[in-house]
Amino acid sequence: RAPEPATLVIFGVTGDLAKRKLLPAVFGLWQDGLLGTAFNILGVGRQDMTDEQFREFALDALRTSKETDEIQEGSLEKFASLLFYTFGDFADIGIYERIKRELDEAESAHGGRKNAVFYLSTPPSLFEPISTGLGSAGLADETEGWRRLIIEKPFGRDLQSALDLNATIHAHWQETQVYRIDHYLGKETVQNIMAIRFGNAIFEPIWNRTYVDHVQITAAEDLGLEGRAGYYEEAGVVRDMLQNHLMQLFALTAMETPVAFDAGAIRDEKVKVLRATRPITEDAAVRGQYAAGTVSGEQVVGYRDEPNVKPGSKTPTYVAVKLEIDNWRWSGVPFYLRSGKHLPKKVTEIAVVFQRPPLGLFPGGAERNVLAFRIQPDEGVSLKFSSKTPGQEDLLREVVMDFRYDAFGAQLESPYSRLLLDAMLGDATLFPREDEVERAWELVAHILNMDVEPQPYTSGTWGPDAADDLLGHDRRWRRL
Ligand code: BG6
Repeated sequence: RAPEPATLVIFGVTGDLAKRKLLPAVFGLWQDGLLGTAFNILGVGRQDMTDEQFREFALDALRTSKETDEIQEGSLEKFASLLFYTFGDFADIGIYERIKRELDEAESAHGGRKNAVFYLSTPPSLFEPISTGLGSAGLADETEGWRRLIIEKPFGRDLQSALDLNATIHAHWQETQVYRIDHYLGKETVQNIMAIRFGNAIFEPIWNRTYVDHVQITAAEDLGLEGRAGYYEEAGVVRDMLQNHLMQLFALTAMETPVAFDAGAIRDEKVKVLRATRPITEDAAVRGQYAAGTVSGEQVVGYRDEPNVKPGSKTPTYVAVKLEIDNWRWSGVPFYLRSGKHLPKKVTEIAVVFQRPPLGLFPGGAERNVLAFRIQPDEGVSLKFSSKTPGQEDLLREVVMDFRYDAFGAQLESPYSRLLLDAMLGDATLFPREDEVERAWELVAHILNMDVEPQPYTSGTWGPDAADDLLGHDRRWRRL
């Protein structure tokens, strides 16, 4: 199924995200013939450029991005002919009038429709003026074609600002027109959580408090600030990773079975489990900040010595929390979530840790079985269980059954390709709904305060020791 003819309007098109991720993703989709025959892109920025200069800029971005698929002969030139550009002040109505004219011009080639997706790839302070500007110019009106708004993260910086942003957007846009991006939901392996849980008969019956001891969700990064101090100083790891990416992984792991595989039903279940989850208290959270150390063999400076970080900054770069869910399935089963920068390696994993067998028949006691979703890298799923070791003695040893994505022989597509295509097709399943985002802010509300001294951890280690205590004496973070 290809989307109807449409114009993709990208605000902030000269920015880093558009250059590195969006343009390559759109190009890949177009080159694979997934965007239909009538499609064009209108880049919108503040920089003064002609269409021709924008085409040069975009082609250069495609040639240099690591995310660009293999370029077929002649396709860059054809793609360039689909690109247009307009610029100006986003607070000025003039720019929206110009966008309207561009849609009018595309109309005949687009079968008499003026369908448009507006992608806000801008700093968050511009989400309000742009969505209002588009709305005031009549561009949210769907009489002449569908109109959709894609909004990048972060969606607000706390509950109140997210409520305000939703209210501003809803002055002109229906919720069904709004697509809030969380790129983790575009990852193939994240979608596979639902496929494995609900597409098999053997997992759901044991996916509950009777069999599960606890769940661990880890999103570790070896990278540090990467020159993003301006943004990160304001965000910290709670806003950057926990409220969105980790909460989404949590909701997909803990949610009930949806009544159908569609946007409404799936998002209903995600909200339901988030509502059953208790807001995180101070004593259920550990915040850390990286100190100097060695990551992947390289010496790195501490967070406070990074360029443009305030001296004595208390911004956390590591967080570990314990989540508790008050529902029949999970009551008493803790979910531990952790994320941090400058940890030993990049790895994202969800591990469902089962209870020990009720009887220790074999010498040495029995270990807990673990079902682990390796979200990235080495994408796959593994099941750890105990087996008898060969020989006279009845000794047990842990062994692993492993499924790897490379078994499919296909390359995993970029999350942005999937999400862009879904938005063009009008499928909001993989986009968090307003009530989900708001509830996620409620859950982290108590730990957003940036005036708490984070615990230092040496770069290249797995975070502050206090994170181990969070698990209690009989549980341990997985060694990844
Ligand atoms: C982004 C955060 O949303 O996700 C970054 O702003 C983080 O700080 C990134 O590095 C991680 O995404 P991925 O896909 O590389 O795991």
